[in-house]
Amino acid sequence: MKILLTGGSGFLGWNFCKTLRFKHEITAFYFQHELFLEKCNFYKIDIRNRDEVFEAVKKIQPEVVVHTAAITNVQICDQDRDLAYSVNVEGTKNLLDASAEVGAKFVYISTDLVYSGDGSFFTEDTKPEPKSYYAQTKLEAEEIVKSYDNYIILRLALMYGWGNVFTNSFSDWLHTELRAKRKVKVFADQFRTPIYAVDAVMAIDELISKDIKNDIFNLGGPERISRYNFALKFADVFGYPQDLIIPVPMDSVKTYLAGAKDCSLNISKIQSVLSFKLKNVDEGLNAMKRS
Ligand SMILES: NC(=O)c1ccc[n+]([C@@H]2O[C@H](COP(=O)([O-])OP(=O)(O)OC[C@H]3O[C@@H](n4cnc5c(N)ncnc54)[C@H](OP(=O)(O)O)[C@@H]3O)[C@@H](O)[C@H]2O)c1
Repeated sequence: MKILLTGGSGFLGWNFCKTLRFKHEITAFYFQHELFLEKCNFYKIDIRNRDEVFEAVKKIQPEVVVHTAAITNVQICDQDRDLAYSVNVEGTKNLLDASAEVGAKFVYISTDLVYSGDGSFFTEDTKPEPKSYYAQTKLEAEEIVKSYDNYIILRLALMYGWGNVFTNSFSDWLHTELRAKRKVKVFADQFRTPIYAVDAVMAIDELISKDIKNDIFNLGGPERISRYNFALKFADVFGYPQDLIIPVPMDSVKTYLAGAKDCSLNISKIQSVLSFKLKNVDEGLNAMKRS
């Protein structure tokens, strides 16, 4: 399949390229961070530039556009709202219009943070109540996506796995700090349903190959866990001392995720259409270690 992936230099996009580059013909957009990977065609583009987006999409003629690019740092989104809006909302609109022109399916990667953060195991029918500006922009983009035909929206949970030299995911950060034997303070009262990045990629791959359109799915792991307990398991699997991990309550530090105490996802809907079982944290961390 001919796939155009945005955010190829990001955490999810990189895992997508690494996992699927021998199966699909992938052109991966990046913006500031150039990477090289055999069988993956990287293409520098600013998705805010409508003309650039149209020119590239028309040239590539993808069957599917997987849109992962975004300003994902919650603090930056809060402090530079114009930037967050122009990339996360207007950039998505540029890609949607260009994708519609070439008749491509559009897969939009949203976030578990669109939910209120004060429930548990949210379903796709739960009314979104984003608490951060980041999540507001992701939800506004979802609404725009829904006004087009042939889309899939995936509300993704916190991901873990191997990143690249430029990425700074939660698991990248844990690995760097623990390897350097530095103590890490981790929220004991923030709950998510973390997903192994390769599972997220495999799920996207299955969904785009099925006859599914105009639908929304939660995409997370099956296990609700605090960041602290996740970090303990991470240390255990990778052989780091667990006493480097210090549990702290969310209200002990200024955080831009203050509202997001529990964004755990109910994943029954997506699990029912996938041919494989999404991994729990132990399974995912062990798969990560083996890879
Ligand atoms: N990571 C998670 O745990 C998580 C959880 C829930 C939802 N999500 C969602 O999943 C998606 C992927 O997240 P991620 O963690 O992979 O993100 P990430 O590592 O922060 O990567 C963001 C990507 O967006 C690109 N980008 C930023 N501004 C751009 C612009 N103006 N034009 C073109 N590309 C631009 C970046 O390119 P350069 O680096 O080359 O500039 C990078 O490739 C995002 O939509 C995010 O909202 C992620």
